[in-house]
Order: sequence, then C-alpha cells, then structure tokens
Amino acid sequence: MADDDHGRRAAAVFDALGLAYEKAFAHSEAHRASLEWLLGRLPPGGRVLDVGSGTGHPTASALAAAGHDVLGIDVSPVMVELAGRQVPGASFRRADIRDVPLQDGSFDAVCVYFTLLQMDRAEQSELVRRLARALRPSGSLVLATVPLDVEGVEGVFMGQRVRVTSFAPEDVVALVRDAGLTVLSEHRVMFAPAHPDAVPEPHLFLYCARAGA
Ligand SMILES: C[S@@+](CC[C@H](N)C(=O)[O-])C[C@H]1O[C@@H](n2cnc3c(N)ncnc32)[C@H](O)[C@@H]1O
Repeated sequence: MADDDHGRRAAAVFDALGLAYEKAFAHSEAHRASLEWLLGRLPPGGRVLDVGSGTGHPTASALAAAGHDVLGIDVSPVMVELAGRQVPGASFRRADIRDVPLQDGSFDAVCVYFTLLQMDRAEQSELVRRLARALRPSGSLVLATVPLDVEGVEGVFMGQRVRVTSFAPEDVVALVRDAGLTVLSEHRVMFAPAHPDAVPEPHLFLYCARAGA
C-alpha cells in the first residue's frame, strides 16, 4: 500500500469540495480542447482510464457520451459518488491510483487532469511511468498540471488546506518523456477558477502518445 498520508489528505480536500470544484473549473477551454483532441484519436468504443476522475465532468461525461468505455478512479468517496450519479454511462471506483494494479497495454487513452499535485515527486514520476505502460502502442495520454517548482508547499486552495508538490514546466515535460511517452504538443494558459477564494494559476496540458507497435 502507498504511504497513506497523501491519500487521506487528498480524499479529505476533495470530499469537502465536491461539486464546488466542478463549478470553479467548468469554464476551462483548455480542458475542453484537450478532450476534443482525445476524441479525435480514440478508436470507436475506446477504453479510457481517467485518473482522479473528480465529479465526472467534463472528462468522463464527454468521453462516455461519445461511446467510449471509461473507468474513473478517485480516492475521494464523495467525488466517486457524484461521478457515478452524474455520469451513469461510465464506471467509477474509489481507490488510490498508487495502489491500483494496471495491466500493460490495456487502455487506448489515459487522462490525468490535475491529479498529481498532492503526491511527492518520486510518486508522480513512478505513476506516470506505470500509466505509460498501461497504454496500448500508439495510445494517447493527456496530462494536465499546475507547473510550479514547489515541493511540499502548504497553502489554501478554495478554502481547503493543501500541501502541493509539482515541477517547473520543462521538468514536467522531462518526466513524461522519461516515462517513455512522446509529447506531441503542449498548451500553457493562465486559468482563474470561478471561486472567491481561488487565485489565477498556470495550467500546462501535455498531449502525449506511446510509441507505436
Ligand atoms: C484537482 S481534482 C481534478 C478532478 C478532475 N480530474 C478534473 O480535472 O475535473 C483532483 C482529483 O484527483 C483525486 N486524487 C488525488 N490523489 C489521488 C490518488 N492518489 N488516487 C486517486 N485519486 C486521487 C482527488 O480526489 C480529486 O478528485
């Protein structure tokens, strides 16, 4: 089992936020654009893993509506309950992704939208390596994060106490490449969550693929 401090803290933060998180981030055009990119690459009925699936919107809902077979994993029981109710066409499981065994080559696409930020750096690198291996050859991965060179920084996010770890943008790219993925394109934007206690934050979206067979 993974060190549980991260899992417990992440679950507590997102149990408390629930739908408020979805509302604050719903207007992200960069998130929507990355989903359009994925939709353009997936085969019919593609198998997709959504890591840290939150409320199911916008990721699982957009992919399931297009006929894909989506499995969302989230450590927060509240998020999993909301996602199951809001997106009945996808499957959701409450688990810490660090503890979920992943079969090599078993997904056509993997989504990682803002899920890494409460893990330490070694865990983030190890998880992206495992996710890369879980992709079939030529499969697609979208990784979105807040690219800041910070390690274990305590802060307040939408009124919740959080401890955040991330990497500078070039180091996120290096992490993904070291995991064996090709970065096909990247998109950097500043995003202002629609919440009185949130401040604008940098977002980095990496559009990636596993090498072909
Ligand atoms: C910032 S939210 C993003 C939700 C969704 N991906 C989105 O972009 O709308 C991060 C989500 O990842 C989940 N999470 C964080 N650490 C996790 C872990 N170790 N295993 C599974 N889920 C995790 C949180 O519970 C939360 O729902």
